[in-house]
Amino acid sequence: MRGPLRVAFYGAGQVSTNAAAILQRRDGFEVLGPFGRDRRDEALRAGADAVVIATTSFLAAIADDVRYAVEAGSNVITTAEEAAYPWANDAATADRLDALARSRGVTILGAGLNPGFAFDALVLTACGAVPEVESMVVERVVDLSGFGETVLRRIGVGHSAQSFDEGCRNGTVTGHIGFPQSMRVVAAGLGVSIERIDRELEPIFAESELAASSLTVKPGETAGFRQRYAAIRQDAVWFEALFIGHIAPTSIGQEPHDAIAVRGPYGDLDLAATPGMNPQISSSSIVANSIRRVVDASPGWTTVGELPPAVPT
Ligand SMILES: NC(=O)c1ccc[n+]([C@@H]2O[C@H](COP(=O)([O-])OP(=O)(O)OC[C@H]3O[C@@H](n4cnc5c(N)ncnc54)[C@H](OP(=O)(O)O)[C@@H]3O)[C@@H](O)[C@H]2O)c1
Repeated sequence: MRGPLRVAFYGAGQVSTNAAAILQRRDGFEVLGPFGRDRRDEALRAGADAVVIATTSFLAAIADDVRYAVEAGSNVITTAEEAAYPWANDAATADRLDALARSRGVTILGAGLNPGFAFDALVLTACGAVPEVESMVVERVVDLSGFGETVLRRIGVGHSAQSFDEGCRNGTVTGHIGFPQSMRVVAAGLGVSIERIDRELEPIFAESELAASSLTVKPGETAGFRQRYAAIRQDAVWFEALFIGHIAPTSIGQEPHDAIAVRGPYGDLDLAATPGMNPQISSSSIVANSIRRVVDASPGWTTVGELPPAVPT
């Protein structure tokens, strides 16, 4: 019988803390950390069965951490949104780390709720219940009030009109990251080629003072944003992703929800979750519930589209 799975956490923020707590309540896991930046080696060089890297959103920022953990013989799960389908950002880095993971017999996975579930794994599951897919529309309205300040400012909350625009131009304001990655995961799962992905991001300004857990937004500052991504195939929209993130969505007449519509010539399928999935609880659960499927997976850099569902075991 194999002993407990040793899981090390790098990044001592919300996701790591919550996912570590989930695993600590279960038999069969030994949790190391979460470790902050000053204890990087303890997380990445522990030779744990799996290392969770929950630090930033960007492939370039986590690539060395992934390499370091893989070289120590660990499987890696990261919540970096760009890691959900790393070939969308930097195919050379993705291929290099994929080859390294194969050579060490370990697996790398980018996972979370979004990307990692709401716009990809769940969409693929829904596609399994229709005879043919013509197009899809996936929509989320998310209450951002529980997010930390660093993440909120980077995605576009707490800005003047000017700093929002400047941030969009210089890359410090990104909106929610991960839609192209989710679209590529779904396209790969369905064997579809996407020609291009169009994107729009627009601010939503607060009309009165609004408080999130980590920051307060004054009237006239951004309290949220709207995003639309459209994956184009054969000159038509094949996959449309609509996202509203807001620290008080009901103040703009929006209730948090998730909706998936799969359109096809032989009928449509509509799934809806109201209220929508909780970003903090769901992401941490998906990370915790991914440990075993990653440890058991074939070596290399994989995606949620290639693995069995995350389950709480
Ligand atoms: N795929 C998904 O669905 C999903 C879900 C949840 C989160 N995420 C992403 O995962 C990341 C972590 O989320 P979170 O909510 O846990 O964030 P968080 O609460 O802000 O925590 C992030 C932690 O990582 C540390 N950190 C930041 N940049 C780092 C770096 N370059 N190297 C080492 N440590 C670093 C921070 O330390 P300092 O305080 O010292 O900066 C902090 O301890 C975010 O980028 C978030 O967007 C993705």
